[in-house]
Amino acid sequence: MIDIVRQLKINPPPMQKKIDILISSAEIQKRVETLAAQIEKDYHGKELTVVGVLKGAFIFMADLVRHIQTPMTCDFLRVSSYEKDKSLGVVRMDFDLTQPITGKDVLLIEDIVDTGSTLTYLLKHMGTKNPSSLRVCSLLYKEMGSGIRDKIDYLGFTVPSRYVIGYGLDSEGVYRSLPYIGAFK
Ligand code: IMP
Repeated sequence: MIDIVRQLKINPPPMQKKIDILISSAEIQKRVETLAAQIEKDYHGKELTVVGVLKGAFIFMADLVRHIQTPMTCDFLRVSSYEKDKSLGVVRMDFDLTQPITGKDVLLIEDIVDTGSTLTYLLKHMGTKNPSSLRVCSLLYKEMGSGIRDKIDYLGFTVPSRYVIGYGLDSEGVYRSLPYIGAFK
């Protein structure tokens, strides 16, 4: 018992850190609806294959697809490049798509594009599967990242160069469930 108390004092529970709210829940929901309307217009008469990049995109994708009437299938893949809030610079495929995307109109859903190495890797990887079209929708783009902004077809928000959390984005596995985008004070 004493050991646990001591440990908690040294490593306070992460949820108690102070957070600046950068984008409120209401702002996110409004922007998600606008993005969904644009996507629905652009894919009118087509069938979409929406691919979410786990884990960070799961909340954004869940909200986005519920505003899109275009018929769609949903799939997921998982890559990682971060350890303890730092980019390792090397992208690793943890698991790939479960369905072929050859000849499909694919919309890749990302949580955030920072250095761009994950997106560059994914575009190359998915391109080899010969989709009919491949577009990118990212909730966030980090200013001062190494700038592959032009590869993002649908962008939610640009954020400053701070480590951001919430609405699917984590810090060491925690904070994904926050309804807003924030950064530690
Ligand atoms: P990139 O390869 O540097 O563009 O980073 C892409 C991935 O790193 C994202 O999909 C996130 O999972 C993670 N990431 C990058 N920046 C942040 C951040 O500020 N907060 C949380 N995750 C981040």
